[in-house]
Amino acid sequence: MPIHAISETAWVLETKNTAYALALNDQGALVHTYWGARLPHPSDYPMPPRSEGYASFNGPGHLWREEYPAYGGGLKYTEPCLKVSFADGVRDCWLSFAQVEVDAQSCKLIVRLHDPTYGLEAHLEYTAHEACDIIERGGFIRCDRGQATLERAFSAQWHLPYGDAYRLTHFTGRWNDEFILRREPLAHGVKVLESRRLTTSHHHHPSFFLDRGTADEDQGEVWFGTLAYSGNWKLCAEVTDFGSTRLSLGINDWDFAWELSAGQTFRLPSCFGGYSAAGFGQASRNLHELIRARLPNPNAPRKVLFNSWEVSYFAVDVESQKHYAELAAELGVELFVMDDGWFKGRLYDNAGLGDWTPDPQKFPDGLKPLIDHVKNLGMDFGLWVEPEMVNPDSDLYRQHPDWVLHFPNRPRTTARNQLILNLARADVRQHLMDALSRLLRENAIDFIKWDMNRNASEVGWGADGPPQGDARQIWVAYTDGLYELWGGLARQFPHVTWQTCSGGGGRVDAAMLTLADQAWISDNTDPTRRLPMQDSYSYVFPLNTLESWVTDMGAPYLPLTLRFHVSMAGVLGIGANITRWNDSQKALAKRLIAQYKQLRPIIQRGKVYRLLSAQPPATTSALLVLDDRADEGVLFVYRTYAPSPTLPTALRLRGLIPEARYRLDGLGEKSGAAWMHSDALLSLDNFESRLLRLKRID
Ligand code: DGJ
Repeated sequence: MPIHAISETAWVLETKNTAYALALNDQGALVHTYWGARLPHPSDYPMPPRSEGYASFNGPGHLWREEYPAYGGGLKYTEPCLKVSFADGVRDCWLSFAQVEVDAQSCKLIVRLHDPTYGLEAHLEYTAHEACDIIERGGFIRCDRGQATLERAFSAQWHLPYGDAYRLTHFTGRWNDEFILRREPLAHGVKVLESRRLTTSHHHHPSFFLDRGTADEDQGEVWFGTLAYSGNWKLCAEVTDFGSTRLSLGINDWDFAWELSAGQTFRLPSCFGGYSAAGFGQASRNLHELIRARLPNPNAPRKVLFNSWEVSYFAVDVESQKHYAELAAELGVELFVMDDGWFKGRLYDNAGLGDWTPDPQKFPDGLKPLIDHVKNLGMDFGLWVEPEMVNPDSDLYRQHPDWVLHFPNRPRTTARNQLILNLARADVRQHLMDALSRLLRENAIDFIKWDMNRNASEVGWGADGPPQGDARQIWVAYTDGLYELWGGLARQFPHVTWQTCSGGGGRVDAAMLTLADQAWISDNTDPTRRLPMQDSYSYVFPLNTLESWVTDMGAPYLPLTLRFHVSMAGVLGIGANITRWNDSQKALAKRLIAQYKQLRPIIQRGKVYRLLSAQPPATTSALLVLDDRADEGVLFVYRTYAPSPTLPTALRLRGLIPEARYRLDGLGEKSGAAWMHSDALLSLDNFESRLLRLKRID
């Protein structure tokens, strides 16, 4: 059983290799005691230190490593998880231990903390994901009586082993340039990463990796985690003056308030945390296992797709799309996706969003003729939508100008000529549910790409005001509305595969990837930029979620083979103008697509080893994907531009069975130990790439 009580006041959650322990201290506060390698005996886990303050400036609570600190209760100045205002004006919350429960069946430890004076409860749920060494934290805040306004309600605070010399790895970016890996010492004070944009965002990502400055891909201790949330979020990485490092994560408290009346609860999104004793690589493989298991279709092979965007932009119509479909089918494509431009009035980005019926000029007989054609060619059919948006130039907006996020007496700022529908409103959700259900019922659609092409401004309810509660609830209510709408559609149309996209990678997170099976991670399809981006993405997300298209970006200078090899290290797609490909390019594409289909069980479901990092300034990178039993693998090696002459690339494989024998295409046969401990040398020219198969041969 992964969860046990060490004593009446101490508990431990154990996974395959790790343990996470908590206890009540001498003042009855729930504090963190251990997060690291699993220890042999329950009594090995430490007990909380004696509680004491420091001078008249820091109460004992300031030095505790509380699991779920609330603002209040003495001289405490570190980041809290919870901040509450009660109806009588009191803003001091005293959470004390109420109850603990172990639910063996669901591997859950449930701890209830409460403020008995005001009847407020923090119901904390800890779930041990044994096989992948990850602890899930979540739960809810409940108001038993009276009224309380939540001003902050994070999901978790994670405490690192004592010390103030950690290094934080995280991801920043912007549109067209997502997932830039940053690795920096964590300084004293609080480092904040957040989104105030209504989406997870291109700019920061709610994922973290902490080490003591010495971990690498294969070795060293790494504590890591990610928040499963797609709206405004906040991460506070704090190093205190008392040698304590902790990280708090949850829904952003910026412009946030949530009113609770008697009997109401506020759900905390899940936050996942894990410990790896074997570097960043193991941390990533653990996250992959967790996130993959939560996908709607964890194991279904992802189809090779064609997407019309970079070829047609808004100029889609029946005949041109039929032609692309024919060419795509000849190459071996399995899923034809028509992107933006197909719906009423959509000639450019300034009209049509909101009116989800086919444009009568472009598709006079609806989508059926194209869909039938695609299906007769043996492919599935996919369609692009952007349900949350409306152009002022649309029937929907003309009928319901009040349905968008806005404040009365303020301009409505458009971006890409569009406004955001207020998904916090039940009537808006119902309308979208009806419109999209009709679209899916009336057309044989197998795949939906759900896009979201702007960030929020003027996040207000309009003249009507909120139906109840504080007006600032809108941020969270919007995200809840999005989950409700998308989840409802997914339940109604279980055969549909969903893709998340927000102008590229603006909304990829562990919550989105319970609704969508795959993600569009950037509009930047230049393979030389994709390499580091895909490398960063693989820190958190599995390769069967990473959609990557071969486009015309980089052509003709970057060889088609390199462009394919980059996209083959994920879910392969084609977004290039294939009418311009000559016969030899088509033959190459056909061969590589066939090879991809053969290898995809390994590529999409295998274990990922980043042998050589693709992060700048690297000019050569390598990625190995091994099947579960380490019997077979696929090795991708890429060289971008490096001034000649350069030395051959030295590669050491990972994850093999030392005593087994393996053959690596063109490089010979050796034991697993030899492949892992002696260099295999490979010479590559600028912009050359290799895809090598590894096979166990004994
Ligand atoms: C942004 C997406 O990232 C692109 O792939 C494409 O779907 C466009 N939107 C369409 O407007």
